[in-house]
Amino acid sequence: MAQFSWTDDLYTGSTLIDGDHRKLIGLVNVLFETMESGQGNARMSKAMNDLIAYTEEHFGREEEEMERIQYVASLAHRAEHAKLIRQLVELKAMLDSGGRINVPAVADFLSEWLRPHILTVDLKLAAALRQRRSEPAPQLH
Ligand SMILES: [Fe+2]
Repeated sequence: MAQFSWTDDLYTGSTLIDGDHRKLIGLVNVLFETMESGQGNARMSKAMNDLIAYTEEHFGREEEEMERIQYVASLAHRAEHAKLIRQLVELKAMLDSGGRINVPAVADFLSEWLRPHILTVDLKLAAALRQRRSEPAPQLH
């Protein structure tokens, strides 16, 4: 069964981000299960809604962090978030249309949907958060 599993290279070192990513991976796997076990469109649609809602929540949290530290690459990172959400919304529209689903193709897409984002931009964001934490607090005059 195709699954998106946590691997240690996904570890960013940010408790907030890693916790969210683990939950997202869990939600992707729930969606896999509903698709592969043919549990019906209503279940699949709910799993898809849950995934989209939590993804939006998580991206919002990362974006707040970027704002907080005035992250220099925040524009590009936000654009990536918008793209990932758009992909999920498109997938949901396809699943909701009730047509025949190419399960292996959707599973391939989902298993690679978030991983490259984590391995590139999220790792950089986590490093910036870490660096910010180790800097001395600004002195008030
Ligand atoms: Fe991100």
